Amino acid sequence: MATRRTRWQEAGNSENFGKRFADLVSAGEDIDGEARLADTLLPRGARVLDAGAGMGRVTSALLRRGHEVVAIEPDETLVRQAREIYPGLPIEKRDILGLGPEDGPFDLVVCVGNVMIYLAEGTEIEALRAMRAVLGENGRILLGFHLQDQPSHARAYTAAEFEADLSAAGLRVDLRAGTYQLHPANEAYGVWVLSRAQSEAGR
Ligand SMILES: C[S@@+](CC[C@H](N)C(=O)[O-])C[C@H]1O[C@@H](n2cnc3c(N)ncnc32)[C@H](O)[C@@H]1O
Repeated sequence: MATRRTRWQEAGNSENFGKRFADLVSAGEDIDGEARLADTLLPRGARVLDAGAGMGRVTSALLRRGHEVVAIEPDETLVRQAREIYPGLPIEKRDILGLGPEDGPFDLVVCVGNVMIYLAEGTEIEALRAMRAVLGENGRILLGFHLQDQPSHARAYTAAEFEADLSAAGLRVDLRAGTYQLHPANEAYGVWVLSRAQSEAGR
């Protein structure tokens, strides 16, 4: 399958992104917020897909918590940085759009840090369907992105537009919050826990 150019690639920000997070890691800053919430959603030793893993920070934090994690990331620069920063990190150069049921099943797909607003234009529903396809029976998706003040080259995506798209992809909202510490939903940032819509559960 030909991979479509993502908004992230258009932004051309990979070197800076990896370096910024590498500096935070070196300084001992807390960059594990998303992984802590993911961990609370999981049984011990669960199987997780980090979709759009970037430089690997979430994967690394979930591995440290005892989960089996597969990281996929289409940006070559970030894959290289992930391998440098976290030697041995199980990361593959792959696009969410290429996922199929044979890649699963996962207990949780983590798709955080604005991945949804950096996808290639017009691929949001396809990406949501691809993530749904790899969920195990009670599998869920943890997802979050900026609803306002998006970073450069990221698309504007309202909560209403996103929820229409996830519904079209056969998913339902189990929870919406405003932060990874589960503050109330707000207009600035969206955090969702999703699962297969009931009518789609058996498919
Ligand atoms: C701001 S970075 C976040 C990285 C990581 N999730 C984190 O939170 O540290 C956005 C990421 O979305 C990824 N992305 C965009 N479109 C993608 C796609 N179709 N498949 C997988 N990753 C994608 C980019 O390559 C980039 O790594």
